[in-house]
Amino acid sequence: MTRTAAWLSALVLGFMVLLPTAVTSTTPAGLCKSINTLKDSLNFTNRRQYMKHNFPINYTIRVHYEEVFRVRNISKLNRTQDLEAQDLQELWLVINQEVLKKVLRVLPERHPSRKYVSDLEHLLRMVEQVFQQVFQQDQDEERQTRERIREICNRVRHSDVTEWKLVKPKALLDNCYRTMHCLFCDCFQCQENFCDVLHWKRGKKRPSKQA
Ligand SMILES: *[C@@H]1O[C@H](CO)[C@@H](O)[C@H](O)[C@H]1NC(C)=O
Ligand SMILES: *[C@@H]1O[C@H](CO)[C@@H](O)[C@H](O)[C@H]1NC(C)=O
Ligand SMILES: *[C@@H]1O[C@H](CO)[C@@H](O)[C@H](O)[C@H]1NC(C)=O
Ligand SMILES: *[C@@H]1O[C@H](CO)[C@@H](O)[C@H](O)[C@H]1NC(C)=O
Repeated sequence: MTRTAAWLSALVLGFMVLLPTAVTSTTPAGLCKSINTLKDSLNFTNRRQYMKHNFPINYTIRVHYEEVFRVRNISKLNRTQDLEAQDLQELWLVINQEVLKKVLRVLPERHPSRKYVSDLEHLLRMVEQVFQQVFQQDQDEERQTRERIREICNRVRHSDVTEWKLVKPKALLDNCYRTMHCLFCDCFQCQENFCDVLHWKRGKKRPSKQA
């Protein structure tokens, strides 16, 4: 009797562990691997040290307003445009590469954060390479990046625009980290609702201190 119960609960537990990944795993494993490497590098300690403490207090960087890409933006884009997960992921890649370029641009050769940021840039390029390999076929066939995404990408790439925002470097990387969790949530087993703005609100109790 107790053995059956134990066996049953083990079975149920096994299902609970297996089910979420089986159902939601749509991001290819190779892509998740590079996303996870990036995630480790973007951990809270690193972001605070390299993006905040190594800068003067309240230091801001001038970025294009489209580069302030937050969790809130994603739900809005997802609501108002007919987009696939892939489109949003691509947008995330383009925007965050630009963001890192902007940060690098303000860092002198010997700045203590310089290596960190260029390592991140490298990691993001790796993600992009895997992303392109994985979705190559779709692209070759018929996938067209949606008009709106292309528009935003173009605007971000060609900064001949006049609308700028002053943003703290850590805030930029916080955005990168959070939106990454939302857009690639199945790489993190979608443990929590990473696309929920409230999830990232300051002061909210979290099991892991990673906000
Ligand atoms: C963050 O990553 C660095 C290495 O990049 C590591 O030394 C540190 O322990 C990590 N911190 C946390 C809280 O995981
Ligand atoms: C930094 O910004 C905060 C909030 O805007 C302000 O209260 C604080 O005085 C600023 N600190 C410095 C050193 O300028
Ligand atoms: C994100 O939202 C802000 C305002 O909430 C807007 O200025 C910005 O253009 C949006 N970014 C994207 C990529 O949609
Ligand atoms: C976008 O909307 C679809 C349909 O409502 C939903 O299944 C998906 O999880 C959303 N994606 C994001 C990143 O919010």
